[in-house]
Amino acid sequence: MPSLSGKNVVMGVTAGVAAYKSLVVVSGLKKLGAEIDIIMTENACNFISPLSFQTLSARPVTVDMFKEPAFWEVEHIALARKANLFLVAPATANFIGKYANGIADDMLTTTVLATKAKVALAPAMNTAMWEHVAVQENISKLKQRGVLFIGPASGLLACGEEGAGRMESPEEIIKFVSDKLLYDEDLKNINIIVTAGPAKEAIDPVRFISNYSSGKMGYAIADAAKARGANVTLISGASVLPVPKGIEFLPFNSTADLLSIMQNNYSKADIIIQAAAPADFTPREVSPIKIKKAGREAMPLELAPTVDIAKEIGKKKQSGQVFIGFAAETNDGAKNARSKLEDKNLDLIVLNDITQEGAGFNGDTNIVCFITADSSEQLPLMTKKEVAHKLLDRALSIYKGKNLKA
Ligand SMILES: Cc1cc2nc3c(=O)[nH]c(=O)nc-3n(C[C@H](O)[C@H](O)[C@H](O)COP(=O)(O)O)c2cc1C
Repeated sequence: MPSLSGKNVVMGVTAGVAAYKSLVVVSGLKKLGAEIDIIMTENACNFISPLSFQTLSARPVTVDMFKEPAFWEVEHIALARKANLFLVAPATANFIGKYANGIADDMLTTTVLATKAKVALAPAMNTAMWEHVAVQENISKLKQRGVLFIGPASGLLACGEEGAGRMESPEEIIKFVSDKLLYDEDLKNINIIVTAGPAKEAIDPVRFISNYSSGKMGYAIADAAKARGANVTLISGASVLPVPKGIEFLPFNSTADLLSIMQNNYSKADIIIQAAAPADFTPREVSPIKIKKAGREAMPLELAPTVDIAKEIGKKKQSGQVFIGFAAETNDGAKNARSKLEDKNLDLIVLNDITQEGAGFNGDTNIVCFITADSSEQLPLMTKKEVAHKLLDRALSIYKGKNLKA
């Protein structure tokens, strides 16, 4: 993850059992280079000692508004000003209620009212509390004011019940905070469809043909677009990668599935990035029963061409939409990419020569060239995450060119 050096997080900790997980959040953000100032409620000190947070953050922890530490040089309001992001994790029902209603009766509620920074809350509470109309009303009020929410997750809660209300995992909270600190929301309100991963073409009920696509490039794009505020739909073939949080996820199996999902969804997208690897051919016939090996000298398989999805969708492109495709090539890359660009009515094609070291299907890096009708930009070896951000920069600039003409 990129460094958070120079970024200040003010973190509130309130009195929920999940407070122990917040130690992991502090440690993770600190390792990334952020400076973290912690404010605990008095009740939170029943769960975790301020000393633990102080040790991990290497900063004094504030609890009592009227007893600032002797070595504190500035007034408490300075914390509100200092924050690049104000995080409260865990956020109790009590804290959420006070914040929604402008109550400032301790250090945390006072400071959060005084901050102009983005505020993100990671609620944690019992399911019945979470579902209570009072809590839900307070949350809608805060959402309307632009307060961000991380989770809660669902699962087994400390009280023994199963349901919504568990604090989101420290890893997800760290990722959310990092994304908010690192990226502007330059894709806010833009709808992006990303396709990723391999298609599987059935031979019989137990076998299929597929390709080496891991989904890593597409998932990196979906993740980066989400971090930059886009409304993301990820349409994915089988992949072992975790589905990024906060996006719409539509799984596909075969190339025909992908085509039908695209036909149903393409019109809602401002930008479509097709990084999936559909099949060019599919078995002409699928055996309804398992094909037996016994008694066979050979197993001929006749393949028929599939529908070219990028071309089909390209024909339907509406004015203002941006279509981007990928070309994984082994030879004559630039020539093939240019003809695909034209044939499929794309605005940009990302060429990767999969024979190059560091490029292609399974790795974490890629070497790509962005080709448009009138330009070609060769990028050096980069992580797939870096490629994703560069590609989104280009996609946004094409989108603005089409939609914000003076
Ligand atoms: C063992 C125990 C666990 C609790 N866990 C939670 C919780 O997860 N979420 C919550 O909203 N309240 C929880 N509470 C209730 C809060 O601690 C209580 O509402 C308190 O007033 C909140 O104080 P604060 O918001 O100032 O930190 C718990 C209480 C106890 C005794």
